[in-house]
Amino acid sequence: MAVGGLEGVIAAETVLSDVDGEGGRLIIKGHPVESLAGHASYEAATALLLGGTELDCRRALAEGRTWAASRLEVPATKDGMEALRATIARLPENATAAQLIAAVGLAVARWVDPKAEAHPELGHAEALLHGVMGAKPTKAQVAAFETYLVATLDHGLNASTFTARVVASTQSDLVSCITAALGALKGPLHGGAIGPVLDLLDGIGTVENAERWLRTELDAGRRLMGFGHRVYRTRDPRAFVQERAIAALEHATTTTNPRLALARHVERTAERLLAERHPDRPLKANVEFYGAVLLEAVGVPRRAFTPVFASARVVGWCAHVEEQRASGRLIRPASKYVGPKPAA
Ligand code: ACO
Repeated sequence: MAVGGLEGVIAAETVLSDVDGEGGRLIIKGHPVESLAGHASYEAATALLLGGTELDCRRALAEGRTWAASRLEVPATKDGMEALRATIARLPENATAAQLIAAVGLAVARWVDPKAEAHPELGHAEALLHGVMGAKPTKAQVAAFETYLVATLDHGLNASTFTARVVASTQSDLVSCITAALGALKGPLHGGAIGPVLDLLDGIGTVENAERWLRTELDAGRRLMGFGHRVYRTRDPRAFVQERAIAALEHATTTTNPRLALARHVERTAERLLAERHPDRPLKANVEFYGAVLLEAVGVPRRAFTPVFASARVVGWCAHVEEQRASGRLIRPASKYVGPKPAA
């Protein structure tokens, strides 16, 4: 086992979420992800992780967006995560979890459209989608989008959540924890894979082209974005939830989404080709694969995919920061020195 990846190392106790990689199950505060995403609102799921009621949470997030609206200075950078990191880093250190969650959502919308409004009259998912689409979304679009957000709120000790906990363990402030976590999420092996999934589907283009295209990528030693996971040895359970939401959107709009049919074929082909090359290491579709298809289907621009992911995961980060603070223990692992010895 590689030393640097900390596979299997238990670095925290949590009541927030449990990722069962062998069984392919994700439990969020006692609820299987399948029964939460597609059923609970963003506010209800946030209240589950952070405490309080759905109604309190709706009010706090609406007030938080209004609070953020006059404070956010979102730079017009090409990369949305760069803009988000810079924007959140400038918020006052005493910002509350609700204010930060609200601010991340509004900052994403403002990066896409600087005129995006706080929409305190709407739920958080609808307000965010309205901002990134630049138009009022339909009920079916909001439902699919909300499913995406809820399925993505928390996921054990993933790289960005661990980052947030490390910063929290030094008794630093919440803004610093979230800013650091944004930096971790940005990377292409974590939250940055979601946009490139659509590049992969674009590159493939048609069902007939899938096998040849995927083989060429793998022969060139490139990784297939949206496949593989550090913990899951099964298909990611969130892929099921997302696929179900895309199909429901198709049903509601009575239009066939050609991407969904292509994605399903690509998934089957990629899994077969990956199994040929890695017979002992199951590499299956992860959260990013159908997440990308879902976000495209509801009208989120591709460049905003990772920032939208952040607007969901910030809930988990805030909850983990609270939990880490309660533990009061500095996270400070050891390294094994393999450098040169001093001359005798
Ligand atoms: N495509 C092709 N080969 C892969 C892929 C992939 N997507 N994922 C893993 N492999 C191969 C590796 O090359 C490696 O092969 P080797 O043993 O011959 O060198 C083997 O499978 C094991 O891979 P590791 O790097 O040890 O697996 P790890 O647990 O570190 O990686 C990761 C997990 C980073 C997610 C990886 O599967 C990957 O890079 N996937 C593509 C990027 C992606 O989709 N990221 C999103 C993950 S979900 C999330 O963070 C929200």
